[in-house]
Amino acid sequence: MIKTVRDISLAGKRIIMRVDFNVPMKDGKVQDDTRIVASLPTIKYILDQKPRSLVLMSHLGDPDKDAAKAKEKAEKEGKPFDLEAYLSAKHRMKPVAEYLAKLLGKNVVFLPSCFGQKAAIDALPNGAVAMLENTRFHKEETAKDPAAQEVLARELASYGDIYVNDAFGTAHRAHASTATIAKFMNFRVGGFLMEKEVANLEPMLHNPPKPMVAIIGGAKVSSKIAVLENLLKNASSLVIGGGMAYTFLKAQGIAVGKSMVEDDFLDTARQLLDHAKAQGVEVVLPVDHIAADHFAPDAVPVAVNAQAVPDALMGLDVGPKTLELYAKVLAGAKSVLWNGPVGVFEFDAFAKGTEKVAQLVAEATARGALTVVGGGDSVAAVNKFGLASKMSHVSTGGGASLEYLEGKELSGIACLEQK
Ligand code: 3PG
Repeated sequence: MIKTVRDISLAGKRIIMRVDFNVPMKDGKVQDDTRIVASLPTIKYILDQKPRSLVLMSHLGDPDKDAAKAKEKAEKEGKPFDLEAYLSAKHRMKPVAEYLAKLLGKNVVFLPSCFGQKAAIDALPNGAVAMLENTRFHKEETAKDPAAQEVLARELASYGDIYVNDAFGTAHRAHASTATIAKFMNFRVGGFLMEKEVANLEPMLHNPPKPMVAIIGGAKVSSKIAVLENLLKNASSLVIGGGMAYTFLKAQGIAVGKSMVEDDFLDTARQLLDHAKAQGVEVVLPVDHIAADHFAPDAVPVAVNAQAVPDALMGLDVGPKTLELYAKVLAGAKSVLWNGPVGVFEFDAFAKGTEKVAQLVAEATARGALTVVGGGDSVAAVNKFGLASKMSHVSTGGGASLEYLEGKELSGIACLEQK
């Protein structure tokens, strides 16, 4: 078990804390504050312990990559591209620091770079909170060359006596601020969010209350195969939905029409079905569909009352018979892990399946099951349907929760002290 802020004396100490404030931004405004709110318990606890200072750091998107994409798009559309305006709208941390200040009811000093801030931090009044500019404005943050990363890691380490990592969402990244910094710190502990994420995800991996039902959806088998394989160890039933279900159906010789399929993964899908059978894990695939003749929000939904999808159609959501099946499978579940939507829930006409899954998982929670939702899209779905508070735990990590459930060691957790 990792040590946390509770296990160390913080009074009078300079704290350098990694948070995941990689939140959606539009026109320099925070669009969804879930991740900021999720770190408040740790921030408030630290401040209550009367530290010398608390310096926060986070990335906010990938400025270089995202700007290059935005520039290319603008050029294609024949529109002018203003890099500084683009960065201000999406990647500058100052508005996030201001947002946090409002939530805390306390000034948050904005530090405009991750380098050269030691004097400014030393000059902060006792108990002050500061926020560094987006760590990914510096190429050292994500550098492949360890020596280059260490240049930034050492600088960040000089801003604190104690390193706190509360950024579960970025814990799968071995970056200067998420892991390498820990090499240069005597004290390295997790925050409450990190602790809570691990406490909820860990049982899903090792010792879930049984029977355990795993619902895995999303577009691609390729991105979920490692999780599916790993879940076979503990799950009684594996519900496979979303775009990836069609690769599994095709792998069994069932017609899928124009549905999305990863042909390179048909063998992998077959192997997984074989492994599931060998381990006595029930695999639940869609038995009917809501389909359309093209992929668009205004595409006309067509009910396909069979497992095979006609040639002219693509499956975009599961049908009512499949949802009845889901209800039966979930009825006796003592734990449920849900990662990935079962349909294109962003399009209202194809959102019913995912909404029903969210309701069924919420009902399982009410019956006393441990229910964990992980992965960016399924989290967006439970938020959209207003059911987040009805789950035992909704992870703030997309890629991080996926890698955790694959059984991988996450660099941002491995670098912390153990109890
Ligand atoms: C996320 O949004 O999943 C985390 O903040 C990690 O972001 P990244 O995928 O850009 O590293």
